[in-house]
Amino acid sequence: MEINVRLEEEKDYLRVEEITRAAFGYPDRIKRGQIGCPYEHWMVHELRHRDGIMALSLVAELEDGTIVGHIICSNAVVKKENQSLPVLNFGPLSVLPEYQRIGVGGALIHTMIGRAKQLDYGAILFFGRPEYYPQFGFKEAKVYEIADAEGYNYPAFMAMELKEGYLKEVCGGRYFESNIYDDERNRETVRAFDRKFTNG
Ligand SMILES: CC(C)(COP(=O)(O)OP(=O)(O)OC[C@H]1O[C@@H](n2cnc3c(N)ncnc32)[C@H](O)[C@@H]1OP(=O)(O)O)[C@@H](O)C(=O)NCCC(=O)NCCS
Repeated sequence: MEINVRLEEEKDYLRVEEITRAAFGYPDRIKRGQIGCPYEHWMVHELRHRDGIMALSLVAELEDGTIVGHIICSNAVVKKENQSLPVLNFGPLSVLPEYQRIGVGGALIHTMIGRAKQLDYGAILFFGRPEYYPQFGFKEAKVYEIADAEGYNYPAFMAMELKEGYLKEVCGGRYFESNIYDDERNRETVRAFDRKFTNG
């Protein structure tokens, strides 16, 4: 199956939010009582207005133009003492359930990495599935001696240098992403947003 990856456009916004919602298991996830979960479709919506990088908001479409997947990047930093190094974060990454395991996620990640290099970004750091991302070259962030905002490391916290040695100067530093990913902080807002999706 041919998969084309292109920039997200305004006309795609609702479709992309629906795909994100479906990929992350809504509304079942709410019915199962996982109300503390972070509402990834709201994150996508919000990232378009702040902290997201629209030059790295990409959709994957089939030959007939049906959009089946999406990825978005955002601005983040690694801080060490009084230094703040800009890095890329990405997520959510979503593939419509019926189109998973046919290479859509991989196509989005490869294209995102290629474009990020062209745009001169130095490194990507993010939280994600440790069983999925290493195949694309991501390593645990502890390899670069960078911890999360609270000072911890674990397999889901991963990194990739796009320029060799880029993270060296913040070795021992901590990683800070947009507060859009903070589900505690945004809980009421995201619940209100979710009500506009009729199948909830
Ligand atoms: C995770 C996700 C993005 C993967 O996208 P995808 O298009 O299904 O994955 P690909 O077809 O590119 O997978 C390529 C390979 O990665 C591996 N892989 C795919 N999904 C995986 C998963 N969930 N766990 C572990 N390995 C996985 C497999 O080896 C696969 O090859 P195979 O199908 O030949 O075995 C997609 O399943 C999804 O949207 N899931 C729900 C939302 C989510 O979890 N997003 C990521 C949050 S970090």
